[in-house]
Amino acid sequence: MIRFENVTKRYADGTTAVDDLSFEVGEGELVTLVGPSGCGKTTTMKMVNRLIEPTSGRIFLDGDDISGIDPVQLRRRIGYVIQQVGLFPHKTVLDNTATVPHLLGVRRAKARERAAELLDLVGLDPATFGDRYPEQLSGGQRQRVGVARALAADPPVLLMDEPFGAVDPVVREHLQNEFLRLQQAVRKTVLFVTHDIEEAVRLGDRIAVYGNGRIEQFDTPSTVLGAPATEYVADFVGADRGLKRLSVTPIEVGDLEQPPVVHLDDPLPKDLEGEGARWAVVLDGENNLHGWLSAEHARVGTGTVREQARRMEAWLPVGASLKQAFSTMLQHDAGWIAVIDEKSEGRFLGVLTPARLHEALRRSTAADARDIAREDVELETVASVAGA
Ligand SMILES: Nc1ncnc2c1ncn2[C@@H]1O[C@H](COP(=O)(O)OP(=O)(O)OP(=O)(O)O)[C@@H](O)[C@H]1O
Ligand SMILES: [Mg+2]
Repeated sequence: MIRFENVTKRYADGTTAVDDLSFEVGEGELVTLVGPSGCGKTTTMKMVNRLIEPTSGRIFLDGDDISGIDPVQLRRRIGYVIQQVGLFPHKTVLDNTATVPHLLGVRRAKARERAAELLDLVGLDPATFGDRYPEQLSGGQRQRVGVARALAADPPVLLMDEPFGAVDPVVREHLQNEFLRLQQAVRKTVLFVTHDIEEAVRLGDRIAVYGNGRIEQFDTPSTVLGAPATEYVADFVGADRGLKRLSVTPIEVGDLEQPPVVHLDDPLPKDLEGEGARWAVVLDGENNLHGWLSAEHARVGTGTVREQARRMEAWLPVGASLKQAFSTMLQHDAGWIAVIDEKSEGRFLGVLTPARLHEALRRSTAADARDIAREDVELETVASVAGA
C-alpha cells in the first residue's frame, strides 16, 4: 500500500534526515515508527503526503509513484494527525470534525451527520461534545477529535505523528486501547510515529526502529523485543524487554498444565494428595470451568464435589497475553490461573502456572530467533535462484 524505495532526504543545510530508506506497509497494516528525537520519523511521514519532497528515491501509494500525483488530490487519500492536534479554535468540535468532507464538497448537513458518527466512534458523545469549542475539552478529548477529523474523509491511509504524545500516561493507554479497537473496525493503512517503545509495541503490527536516518530493524513487536537485530536496537528496546515481551506473547494451549479434573456431581476424591496433587480443577456438566477443590477440603468433606468446590476468579481466555496472565495471578494472589476457550462457551483447556509462563516466554523468544534465521535462508534461496 505504501512503499519506500531508496528514499533519501537531505535538507538544504546538509543534514541528512533520512538515508536510503526502503520499506513497505501492507494494506490495513499498522506500522509504528519509533526512535529517538531527530532520527527522521516526521520527515519520513511528511514525505508520504508530500509536505516534504525527497531528495532522491521514490514513494508509491497503492502502486502509484506519488511524485506524479497532485498533492491536494494525494492528501485527500491520506488522513493526518499531528501532535498538537491543530483543531480550529473558533470552530465547534462537530464543525472541526466535518471540515474535510465539507471542503471536499459534501453538503454541510451531510458532513455534520458523518462527523457525529465519527465522534461517537472515537468515544465522544456528539450531543455532549459536538457544540463545544476545543478549549473546552481535555487534552485526551482533543486528541480524539483529531483522530475523528483525520478519519472524516474516510481515507485509506492514516499518518499519525505522536498523536497521543501530549497526554498523561493513563489517558494515553486509554486512547491507545480505543484506537486499537477503532483500527479493528476501520482497518486503515497506518504509519504511526512515537518516541515510546511501549506504545510502538502495543499498537504496531510491525515496528520500524529508527537509528540516525535509517531503519535498524523492521519486524513484528515480538521479534524486535525478543531478537533485536543490532546492538542499537537492543539498547533502545531496553533491558526490561523480557517484561515487554509478556504483553505481545499470547497464551497457547501447549503452554498449559493438565492438573487433576473433577466434576461437580462426582463424589469427593479422597486421595488427591496421594496422587501428588494439592488441588483439582472443578468442571460443570458441560466441561466448563466452575472452580477448584483443595485436597484438604476433599479429604474432610462427605458428599459431592459441589459442596466443597470454590469458585475460580482467576481465569483467562486462551490467546490472552502472558502479561494479562501475570497480572491476573497477582490480582487474585493465585498460584495458577485457569485458561478457557471462549469460542466454545468457556470449555476448560488447562492451567497456567508461573513456571509454565516462564517457559512460554522462553519459547516465544526462541521461536522468533528461528523465524529470523528462516527468513534469511529464504532470502538467500531467492537470490541464488535469481542468480542462476
Ligand atoms: N527544515 C529543516 N532543515 C534542516 N534540517 C531539518 C529540517 N527539518 C528537520 N531537520 C533535521 O532533520 C532531522 C530529522 O528531523 P525529524 O523532524 O524527521 O525528526 P523526528 O524523528 O521526527 O524527531 P522528533 O522525535 O524530535 O519529532 C533532525 O536532525 C532535524 O534537525
Ligand atoms: Mg517528529
